[in-house]
Amino acid sequence: MHARTHITAVTNQKGGVGKTATALNVAGALAEAGQNVLLIDLDPQGHLTDGLGIEQAPAGENTANLYRALVGEFTGSLADLIAPHSAPAGRLDLVPNTIEMFMAVRELDKQRAREQRLARLLSPVRGVYDHVLIDAPPSLDILTDNALAAADGVLIPVQAEDSSLKALRLLLPQIASVDADLRDKPLQLHGLIVSLLRRPATKLAESVIAEFEQLEGLPILGTVPLGVIVGEAWRSGRTVVDYAPDSEHAQAYRTIAKVLTEAGR
Ligand SMILES: Nc1ncnc2c1ncn2[C@@H]1O[C@H](COP(=O)(O)OP(=O)(O)OP(=O)(O)O)[C@@H](O)[C@H]1O
Ligand SMILES: [Mg+2]
Repeated sequence: MHARTHITAVTNQKGGVGKTATALNVAGALAEAGQNVLLIDLDPQGHLTDGLGIEQAPAGENTANLYRALVGEFTGSLADLIAPHSAPAGRLDLVPNTIEMFMAVRELDKQRAREQRLARLLSPVRGVYDHVLIDAPPSLDILTDNALAAADGVLIPVQAEDSSLKALRLLLPQIASVDADLRDKPLQLHGLIVSLLRRPATKLAESVIAEFEQLEGLPILGTVPLGVIVGEAWRSGRTVVDYAPDSEHAQAYRTIAKVLTEAGR
């Protein structure tokens, strides 16, 4: 039994900025450090499920899957939605995607308390897992609102490009509005993760990073360089710390994991 469970949403409505890689590999680093971690694949694309080499949950009426649970059709135990994944030290479990998640936005939009579905669903994990990481979709939709309402804190992967600065100008007000309307306590903004950084960094990338550094209350927690290891690990259904433990990528994810471990204390 763990005293505290820290739930983290990994969000950015901008696509392809490293959300799923961050969720997967920070979770791997937490598990390596002996923590029990539950990942939630909230993105209908199902990339997180693929990245762990886990099959999608079955579809159809009366099945236990994340979609049916979010829309209130499956009311059984959360444990029935969880697929285990082996990790060297701690636990690394997953609530996988199902093809039906493509209907979630449309269906949830019709429902009451639509932003609180994931928070309610996750209430039994408090005290069971040390960490829960939610991989959000690349949109500011009802699924992202659910992630922001369910979490204690948020990690924001970004790329060192102007489009990421622009994306933050939309995302930060969205987080503030969820704080104002849906939460008792404001979300903890853990910080940014500069992902997929090409090296050597261009002048443009350096100037964007300098602008990130000016953002108050949003520290840069780590930089993950562009590297084939991330894709190779993903394709083999393993996390980077497991696949390439001595790589600088593994080290970067461990550094970010430590921030979450501190936040969870
Ligand atoms: N540091 C890295 N080096 C090389 N490839 C990476 C790195 N991080 C992520 N990738 C790859 O880049 C692609 C985009 O990353 P990822 O899927 O994590 O982004 P995302 O923000 O989750 O995307 P989406 O918005 O589609 O959900 C993926 O194919 C992933 O394997
Ligand atoms: Mg993704």
